[in-house]
Amino acid sequence: MGTVLEYSALPAAALRDRIHARKAALNAVILGHNYQRVEIQEVSDYLGDSLGLSQEAADTPADVIVFCGVHFMAETAKILSPDKRVLMPDLRAGCPMADFVTATALRRLKAEHPDAAVVAYVNSTAEVKAESDICCTSSNAVRVVESLPREQPIIFVPDRNLARYVEERTGRDNIIAWDGYCYVHDDMVLDELARARAAHPQAIVVVHPEARRELLDAADLVTSTSGMVDLAERHDAVIFGTERGLVDRMKQRFPLKTFVPLSGAAVCGNMKLNTLAKLAWCLDHGQHEVVLPEDVRSGAERALRRMLDLSGGWRAPTAEEEGLELAGVRPRGCGCA
Ligand code: 13P
Ligand code: SF4
Repeated sequence: MGTVLEYSALPAAALRDRIHARKAALNAVILGHNYQRVEIQEVSDYLGDSLGLSQEAADTPADVIVFCGVHFMAETAKILSPDKRVLMPDLRAGCPMADFVTATALRRLKAEHPDAAVVAYVNSTAEVKAESDICCTSSNAVRVVESLPREQPIIFVPDRNLARYVEERTGRDNIIAWDGYCYVHDDMVLDELARARAAHPQAIVVVHPEARRELLDAADLVTSTSGMVDLAERHDAVIFGTERGLVDRMKQRFPLKTFVPLSGAAVCGNMKLNTLAKLAWCLDHGQHEVVLPEDVRSGAERALRRMLDLSGGWRAPTAEEEGLELAGVRPRGCGCA
């Protein structure tokens, strides 16, 4: 069997058997992001948010890492584990937010602000990370920014929404935010939140920090995808302001709980490019391999390691802890109903 189309004709059970057998033969590990299709999440050895996945990629004893997520995540695995083979089931699975900023454009902005530190959200290319001082994820962005001298200006790329959230949480007024965004989260609107609340008044509303400010202001909690999984384990009714893949998986795990997406349209087409057929094909054919020029890889590793060192032995606060912390500043009820 040679083509992905031929693999697609196989039943799911046969694909799963093939995936397990090849994974054992290659000593491979499958890392999956929380937004993957449920069938991909089911065969992943590790599921998580961007911080958890990068920690896992740095520490895994496997020889081969198969990354079911988007391109910057697989690149991050290669940056942190250069001696391992890193494979992606579909090379077209990119992140449109990461493409908002190029290394050349960032160098230009750095020249205008020579004193600024550069914080790169992991949703960025390896070249952009190599131009940055430190990386961050949605679960440690506040902590990363707080680690930098308060009087030092910060260039924050590429997510303007996360930058604004960090600005509010840290009380800084010297963050120069790149004008990028995630279409999945930026498209969510207050009307949808109000409708979901009206339909499920008992539910907690949790929103990802990639969403717009008005959504964050209206939410009960703001946290990363892993924080949301933690919340789903503890609460019976949740409205999730994030991508559908996470909600679908939580509904499958807890069929008796009330879990609803804030927006039915919040689907990341890029994350969904990975399928069981492509994953089985990828393991059988050893493709598509992620490769990086060494100067770019080592530059990006410096910024990523600085983040991981800061997060060493540290875990993202649970949603419950975040909730306790935020309860005073984010009263329930958005005033938009
Ligand atoms: P986290 O899983 O780190 O919260 O990030 C969400 C995301 O947009 C990944 O593409
Ligand atoms: Fe990129 Fe948004 Fe998709 Fe995440 S959900 S991969 S940030 S486009």
